[in-house]
Amino acid sequence: MTLIHEEQLKNFIDGKWVEPSSGKATAVINPATSETLVNVPLSAASDVEEATSAAKKAQKTWALVPAPQRAEVLYRVGLIMKERKERLSQLLTMENGKVIEEARGEVQEGIDMAFYMAGEGRRLFGQTTPSELKDKFAMSVRAPVGVVGIITPWNFPIAIATWKSFPAIVAGNAVVWKPATETPIMAYELAKIFEEAGLPKGVINVVFGSGSTVGEAMIEQEDIRVISFTGSNEVGRGIAGKCGQRLKKVSLEMGGKNGVIVMDDADLSLAVEGILWSAYGTSGQRCTACSRVMVHEKVKDELEERLQKEIAKLSIGNGLDESIKVGPIINRAGLEKVKSYISIGKEEGAKLLTGGYIMENGNHKKGNYFAPTLFTDVKPDMRIAQEEIFGPVVSLIPVKSFEEAVEINNSVEFGLSSSIFTQNVNQVFAAQRDLDTGIVYVNAGTTGAEIHLPFGGTKGTGNGHRDSGVAALDVFTEWKAVYVDFSGKLQRAQIDVE
Ligand code: UN1
Repeated sequence: MTLIHEEQLKNFIDGKWVEPSSGKATAVINPATSETLVNVPLSAASDVEEATSAAKKAQKTWALVPAPQRAEVLYRVGLIMKERKERLSQLLTMENGKVIEEARGEVQEGIDMAFYMAGEGRRLFGQTTPSELKDKFAMSVRAPVGVVGIITPWNFPIAIATWKSFPAIVAGNAVVWKPATETPIMAYELAKIFEEAGLPKGVINVVFGSGSTVGEAMIEQEDIRVISFTGSNEVGRGIAGKCGQRLKKVSLEMGGKNGVIVMDDADLSLAVEGILWSAYGTSGQRCTACSRVMVHEKVKDELEERLQKEIAKLSIGNGLDESIKVGPIINRAGLEKVKSYISIGKEEGAKLLTGGYIMENGNHKKGNYFAPTLFTDVKPDMRIAQEEIFGPVVSLIPVKSFEEAVEINNSVEFGLSSSIFTQNVNQVFAAQRDLDTGIVYVNAGTTGAEIHLPFGGTKGTGNGHRDSGVAALDVFTEWKAVYVDFSGKLQRAQIDVE
């Protein structure tokens, strides 16, 4: 069965599939096999301009459709995604490399988001509150922002797209979307689903291309009032600066250096499972991936031993094969970056227990495979314990106490996710209070956020906004305060109060 029918993807602008005005394209490579899957447009700024004017026009009408009716489209999107779950998952594995089980999980995350955000069509709650004056009514309502720009990453190409586009659409906005060029197939499939679900033309527009051209052009467009971005810290900071100058609202999610704390009373089998899943799942290419383990010195040797034993059992290869547990790294540049951290770690004096190399034998030669890696005796200030590696590399940091573990956990630039394994209820509650991250797990790894809770982090992870949950609506709506005076006379607030 061939899953991809096109040779070259097209942009989706104003309900039509169109070639980019640049005429340029680049290949999309399957990271497991190095085969070309399809070509993706490298659009020009003029394509963004066209998408923005289509969105502006469509948004005016869309905003007047009652929200429960807008939500109907999302229900249909959810149903189509559900019907196509297996096909979407296989395509996702082919373009991104994550193993099929995880791809199914990611598609499910999108389906869940469709039904959750569709429910918002009958909520989108504001507040009613008493007025300080007689015969006067006061309320706050959520108003759409207008045209919003979303920029999505390759590591969760469909889930993150749904986190951003669904709340934007249910709230009455129109969207200009730049998906990552590494993983455009999910965007293409999702746009087709929107089309089939009956979303009016122009409400979602997909412009494929690079950050430096398409992303920049989105920032330049005055009519795009919000940019919601998930990606690297460096790019996010650049976007924030430019949006700040233009008084554009910007929501950023930029990764982490997520830590697991293993206390001396922890259920070690559970901790090992949690670490393996959150560190080596998606080959460590999650913003929420565990890359540090603060382990109590009393259980350090045992944890090291058990982890090594389990790592040796991990099967690495093409994620379409159900027996494979760890897939490839997205591209050569990613692979080289991960590799560079191995020498950095060794030079800093960390002890490499296992892994640490690009896999180049047999079938592994065809793709971008990196052996699951474990360092120990890592010091909290080493670069491998501070910088986001975005690969299957874990640093064990021995600690003497709960307090020391929390302090080390919080000593990094990022603040996305953290976790603690312990049986001590007092430490559980202290940890959820003291771990300075947007997400805290107890007796689970650092991944697995559910879509109806806020997703995002503190410090260098973002700028205070959240994806997912009700919090996502704050990114894509303006609060409007409405006062209705039914006294029939002019009443002056703060003055005519008896
Ligand atoms: C990401 O890596 O940017 O909690 C998203 C998780 C997933 C989403 C990760 N539900 O790991």
